[in-house]
Amino acid sequence: MPISAPDTLLTISGMTAGYGKIGVLHGVDMTIGRGEIVALLGPNGAGKTTLLRAVSGLLPWTGQARFDGADLAGVSPRDAARRGLVHVVEGHRVFTQLSVTDNLLLAGYDLPRGERSSRVDEALAYFPEIAAKRADRAGALSGGQQQMLAVAQGLVRRPKLLMLDEPSAGLSPVLVDRVLSVADSLRKGGTAILLVEQLIEKALALADRVYAMAQGRIVLEASTTEADLPHRLEQAYFGKDAVPVLG
Ligand SMILES: Nc1ncnc2c1ncn2[C@@H]1O[C@H](COP(=O)(O)OP(=O)(O)O)[C@@H](O)[C@H]1O
Ligand SMILES: [Mg+2]
Repeated sequence: MPISAPDTLLTISGMTAGYGKIGVLHGVDMTIGRGEIVALLGPNGAGKTTLLRAVSGLLPWTGQARFDGADLAGVSPRDAARRGLVHVVEGHRVFTQLSVTDNLLLAGYDLPRGERSSRVDEALAYFPEIAAKRADRAGALSGGQQQMLAVAQGLVRRPKLLMLDEPSAGLSPVLVDRVLSVADSLRKGGTAILLVEQLIEKALALADRVYAMAQGRIVLEASTTEADLPHRLEQAYFGKDAVPVLG
C-alpha cells in the first residue's frame, strides 16, 4: 500500500529506538491501512516488541510516525490509547486480584461513566468464555482466558489499531485459533491489527500483509497472497543472499 493512500492509518518512517545507549531499531519503515491485518514476524531479539513499545509511546524514538492523520511524536501511551492506538503487551498482564469486569472497567477508566459498562459488555461479546466468568477473579482464569481478558481490555477502547504482541504464547492450539479468530471478526468491524506472532503459518493465514524483521530492520514486506512468499520468508530469516537483495 503506497504511503500516500488516503486509507493509511499508521505510517512509520526511519524509526530508531533502543534502551539507553543500546540501539535496537535501525530505521524502520512500515504502513498499516485501516482495517488491515498486518503480521510482524522475525526471530527472537529482532526488535518486534521494541517497535510496538516505541509506536505506543512506551519507549522514546526518533524518526517519523503518524497515526490517523496526526503526528505521534512525544505522544504518551495514554494519549495514544485515547486516539485509538492500543497495545496489548506480551504476557497477558491482568490484575489477578480483581474480577474480570473490574479489569475491563479499569481499562476504560477515562471513558464517560455512562458508557463504561456498555463498552465492557461490547468487549466481552467477543469472548463468551470469559463473559460467563465476569464476576470471577482474573487470577482464577486459565492462561488462555487471561490472554482473552488482556485482548478484551484493549477492545474496551474501541481501537482503530490493535497491536497484539505474541497473543498465542503459551496457549494450546485450540485457544490460539480462538484468540486469532477474534482478529478476523475485528477486521470485519474495520479495526486494523498489527500481529506479532511466532506461529508463522497461522499469522500468514490471517494477515493481509506481512513484514519480517531481523536485527532491528525490516527485511521483507509482502502481501500474504504472494506466490513465492514462503521462499522469500525463508531467505529473510536464514538466507545470506537476502541481505543484499533486501537492503
Ligand atoms: N529492557 C531492555 N533493556 C535492554 N535491552 C533490551 C531490553 N528489552 C529488549 N532488549 C534487547 O533489544 C533487542 C530486541 O528485543 P525485542 O524487541 O524484545 O525483540 P523481539 O520482540 O523481536 O524478540 C534484543 O537484543 C533484546 O536483548
Ligand atoms: Mg517480543
